[in-house]
Amino acid sequence: MTDTQREYDVILYGATGFTGKLVAEYLLNAYGVGDDLRWAMAGRSLGKLETVRDELRNDAIPLLTADSDDQASLAKLAALTRVICTTVGPYALYGSGMVAACAEGGTHYCDLTGETQWMRRMIDAHQETAEASGARIVHTCGFDSIPSDLGVLFLQNAMMKTHGVPACHVKYRVAGASGTFSGGTVASLINVMEEASRDRSLRRLLADPYALNPADAPRGDDRNDQTGAIYDEDFDRWTLPFVMAAINTRVVRRSNALMAQRYGEDFRYDEAMLAPEGQGGLKSKLAAAAMTGGTAALAIPPLRAVARRFLPSPGEGPSLEVRERGFFDIRLYGVHPEDRDKDMQARVTGDRDPGYGSTSKMLAESAVCLAQDELACGGGLWTPASAMGEALIQRLQDRAGLSFEITRD
Ligand SMILES: NC(=O)c1ccc[n+]([C@@H]2O[C@H](COP(=O)([O-])OP(=O)(O)OC[C@H]3O[C@@H](n4cnc5c(N)ncnc54)[C@H](OP(=O)(O)O)[C@@H]3O)[C@@H](O)[C@H]2O)c1
Repeated sequence: MTDTQREYDVILYGATGFTGKLVAEYLLNAYGVGDDLRWAMAGRSLGKLETVRDELRNDAIPLLTADSDDQASLAKLAALTRVICTTVGPYALYGSGMVAACAEGGTHYCDLTGETQWMRRMIDAHQETAEASGARIVHTCGFDSIPSDLGVLFLQNAMMKTHGVPACHVKYRVAGASGTFSGGTVASLINVMEEASRDRSLRRLLADPYALNPADAPRGDDRNDQTGAIYDEDFDRWTLPFVMAAINTRVVRRSNALMAQRYGEDFRYDEAMLAPEGQGGLKSKLAAAAMTGGTAALAIPPLRAVARRFLPSPGEGPSLEVRERGFFDIRLYGVHPEDRDKDMQARVTGDRDPGYGSTSKMLAESAVCLAQDELACGGGLWTPASAMGEALIQRLQDRAGLSFEITRD
C-alpha cells in the first residue's frame, strides 16, 4: 500500500489521556475533521474514546481501538495511516510495540517521550527497519525538545547566513516559564528513576552527554550537565540547573550528528535557567542545591513513594486557567568561533504553559508536518530538527503560538 492509499493522514493514539485530549482539541479546532486533514482518535477503550468525542462535540471524528499489549492491534492501526501521533506513556512501559509497528509498516511516527534510555533502545532496535520501510520516527516533539532543537537550528542557520560559519558554542537559557506537571509526566520521571536504580549501565548511559549519538559519530567536548550555580558573563546573570537539560542536550547533539556535523565537530551545547535579575551568588547557590537535591531525592525509593502520593496521578494535569496563563521564554546565545563581536542571540517563546498547552500544539503540528510537508529525509529514527527543521519552525510560528526571532546579530 502506498502512503496516499492509507485511510488517514494522522491517528492520534492515546486520545483519552490528559495530553491526548488537548492534542485532539487542537486538531479539531485547527483542521476540522476529514477536510484539510483526515484524522482519527485511538485508544484502548472505545467507551472512553466516545466520552472524549462527546466532550469535543463532534460525532464525525472516527474512533479506533488498539491495546499496547496486543501487537497485532498496533500493526493494524499503523497500517491505516500515514502518521501515528502518540501520547500513550510512560513510553518505556507502553510505547515500544507502536514504534516497532510503525518502523515495520512504513508509518511515520511522533511522540512526547523524554525517556533517553528508551530512545536509545528504540534507535538500536529499529533504525535499520525504519530506513528500509521509509518510516520517519521522531521522538521528543514537545517542550522537550522542540524549543531546544529547533531553536539551535534557527540560530545556527542565521549564523551561517550572516557570518558564513556556525557558532562553536550555543547556550540555551530559560528566562521564564509558567506551568506544572501532569500525572503522565510524573509517572515517566519516576519510571526512569526506578529503571536507573536497578541498572548501573543505564545510569552510565543517562550520564553520557552523547547518549543518543550514532555509535560511529564523532564526539565533541561536552561534559556533565550543570548541577550548581554558575555566573554567565554573556547574560550577566547567575544560572541554575535546568531539569530538562539531560534530555534536550542529547537530542541537540544527535541532531548535529544526523545532519553531518552541520554545527561543527567541536560544537558545544549546554542548557541552564537564568536566575532572577539581581539575584546574587549565595542565593543562586542555595537555589541550585535545593533543585539538585530535590531531583536526587527521587532516586531514593521511600521518597519516590511519598512523591507519588502528593504529585498528580495519570490522567490529571494543569487546569485550563494555568495552561492559558502559562508561557515560556527561551534565550539562545551563539558564540562566533573567531570574533566575539559577531556572537548572535535568538529568542524562542510560546503562548501557553510549556508542558501541556504549548506541547500539545507542538506535537499536533509535528504530526501534520510529517503527514503533509515535503521533507528531505528518508526513513530512520530522527530528531525534530533533522527530520522537519524549517518546515516545522514555519508551522509553529504560523499556527501554534511559538515565535523564533534573532535578537542580536
Ligand atoms: N515532553 C513533554 O514535553 C511532555 C509533555 C506532556 C506529556 N508528556 C508525556 O506524554 C505521556 C502522556 O502524558 P499524559 O499526562 O497525557 O498521561 P496520561 O493522562 O496518563 O495518559 C496516558 C494515555 O496512555 C494510555 N494508555 C496507558 N496504557 C495503555 C495501554 N496499555 N494501551 C493503550 N493505551 C494506554 C491511556 O489510556 P486510558 O485512558 O485508557 O488509561 C491514556 O490515553 C507521558 O509519557 C508524559 O511523560 C511529555
